[in-house]
Amino acid sequence: MVTDDGSRTLLDSDSSLAWHSESGALAESRHVYLDNSGVNQRLQQGKVTRVLEIGFGTGLCFWLTASAACRGKAQLDYTSFEHRLMPATVLAQLNHGEIGECQPAYDRFSTLILDSPDLATGELSCRVDSVSLNLVTRDVTDTTKLPGALDAVFHDPFSPEATPEMWSQELFVRLFGQLKPQGRLVTYCVKSSIQRLLGHVGFEVSKKKGPPGGKREVLVATRPG
Ligand SMILES: C[S@@+](CC[C@H](N)C(=O)[O-])C[C@H]1O[C@@H](n2cnc3c(N)ncnc32)[C@H](O)[C@@H]1O
Repeated sequence: MVTDDGSRTLLDSDSSLAWHSESGALAESRHVYLDNSGVNQRLQQGKVTRVLEIGFGTGLCFWLTASAACRGKAQLDYTSFEHRLMPATVLAQLNHGEIGECQPAYDRFSTLILDSPDLATGELSCRVDSVSLNLVTRDVTDTTKLPGALDAVFHDPFSPEATPEMWSQELFVRLFGQLKPQGRLVTYCVKSSIQRLLGHVGFEVSKKKGPPGGKREVLVATRPG
């Protein structure tokens, strides 16, 4: 489906689950994840940056982050978990390569992701220029190994109602431990119970204004230190 800012996302007609806000997939991804995490700014400053994403989905967040790294000529190490990778034909139709200024890099990543036999074994590691992607096609809640020294976690699973296991104390404790001091977990969900849980785990939690035309508020949880 086409969202209000002209960018495309997916909608599961059976469950009514949407992969992004219908008000604007691009605006949401930029604001909630790239900007609120501080990742966009780090990449513009040419800083080495490590990101973990929960929910690769359509690859939009990855692609926006990779584009920012290309522009800033900064090293980006990006790990993303996705237990149900979309078929190549579906991802290709979204053509996120139109967004950003790095179409050649997009084409190279698309080929690597869509043609990789490694994905069948659960993990693809690839690099294009200064950007490395580790795409793990497994359930993140079943995985013992998560990357460390993270600058940011893009926490982008479906809602707590749809996937309560993705919003558990156990998972938040693990994510907290993988972040650097001052690293940030960012998400669209501002439910009070989730804010309390993140605070209980040790994060400093604050609400920020939401993206243009989208949710009123979104969340930033910072590991103190
Ligand atoms: C809201 S979408 C993510 C959108 C994505 N960040 C993007 O830029 O397109 C949520 C994604 O989380 C994935 N997901 C849900 N539960 C998961 C789990 N236990 N492990 C890994 N991925 C999961 C879903 O399959 C879905 O693709």
